[in-house]
Amino acid sequence: MEKREGFSSKFGILAAAIGSAVGLGNIWRFPYVTGKYGGGAFLIIYLGIVAIIGLPLMLSEFVIGREAKLDAIGSFKKLDSKRPFYISGVLGVLSAFFILSYYGVVAGWTLEYVFSSITNKFAGQSSEAIANMFGTFIKHPYRPIIWQIIFMGVTGLVVSTGIEKGIEKVSKIMVPLLLVLIIVLDIRAISLPNSMEGLKFLFKPDFSIIDRRVVLAALGHAFYSLSLGMGIMITYGSYIGDKENLGKTALQISIADTLIALLAGVAIFPAVFAYGLDPAEGPGLVFTTLPNVFNQMPGGYFFSIMFFSLLALAALTSTISLLEVVVAFLVDSLKMERKKASILSFTSITIIGFFASLANGPLSGKVFFGKNFFDFLDTTTANYFLTTAALISVIFIGWFMNKDRVKAQLTSEGSFNVIYEKAFYTIIRYIAPIGILLVFLYQIGVFGEKL
Ligand code: PHE
Repeated sequence: MEKREGFSSKFGILAAAIGSAVGLGNIWRFPYVTGKYGGGAFLIIYLGIVAIIGLPLMLSEFVIGREAKLDAIGSFKKLDSKRPFYISGVLGVLSAFFILSYYGVVAGWTLEYVFSSITNKFAGQSSEAIANMFGTFIKHPYRPIIWQIIFMGVTGLVVSTGIEKGIEKVSKIMVPLLLVLIIVLDIRAISLPNSMEGLKFLFKPDFSIIDRRVVLAALGHAFYSLSLGMGIMITYGSYIGDKENLGKTALQISIADTLIALLAGVAIFPAVFAYGLDPAEGPGLVFTTLPNVFNQMPGGYFFSIMFFSLLALAALTSTISLLEVVVAFLVDSLKMERKKASILSFTSITIIGFFASLANGPLSGKVFFGKNFFDFLDTTTANYFLTTAALISVIFIGWFMNKDRVKAQLTSEGSFNVIYEKAFYTIIRYIAPIGILLVFLYQIGVFGEKL
């Protein structure tokens, strides 16, 4: 049999996994949620959650992947052929498939904005005009689709080239570049007049806002931001060399993901406040507020190109990891050749994505349980699939996977000692399942409206 591909270096592993974790969630969602739900107080809670639940969960996915050395579904089947734990993998692969179909659309928007920045389309426009441009663009029947195809095409190309020469090589260039871009934008933002206002919005602790919904929102965001529950870290774990320290790797990735989210906040809010704009939520912030900031900022032309390129890069390393989950399944479990698998998954995901894009415009009917297709894909995967997949996998590793094999993975077959084995089990057996269950209940609305 041919030797299974894998990452060739420690830096390659980190770059690929950090690339997956760092995405739109870090750049627009995290800063906004932090600012709105308690600033520094939210931050402390988020950091605690990442350390106590996020990190052990990522480590479990790595353990499963590296032990089985297969795709997300194949891994569970190999490690337990009697019980149906592979359902976790099935949900993971399905999530990756459906998330990518609409994530590819949003990723395409970033390219439109790189292009508009280069052609200086926002210059001299009023803020209403800029908001209208966004609305008109996403409703357009084929313009977003063209960008989506281009974006997905690049993703498909990287994945079809393989792990070492494709994903690893590209991530090793893009992740450092992303860091440089963010830092340049940070320096620009902090040097603006009034930048303290923005930093206060982001960091000033307000414990009075913290309630259980805020805590659960932090937990939900941690899963999403660390790319957990979609089979990504199982798949990437299966490419990690046997000597690497998995715990240390997961720790480094979690720190980097959180740090980049913070740096993104520092790049965005001082600039928004410096020009007296509203720190609005989500796509609105990135696509309709920030062009106004760049319009007024000295050197805004270049910073705008930089910012939207940053967004595109961050999205690309995430789309790559999503596509790899699907392709790895076709290659490992269905024995398909990588190129063929890449073309097949690229085509089907992109076509489903057309409908997600059209749901913002011509096909906006809310026919899927009261939602349009775009929102339906988003909520089904985020609310049901990810949490269920994560829950099944912690139950598997905590209660059913062979303990000696878990230990062997944590210590890389005894090459070093770990002091956290007991804590790891306490979390994976008790704390994580309860946490995940609560997030699930929160997301389906049991604790009142989602934040
Ligand atoms: N972790 C990414 C982020 O923070 C989101 C993501 C979701 C990436 C799904 C890959 C898959 O934006």
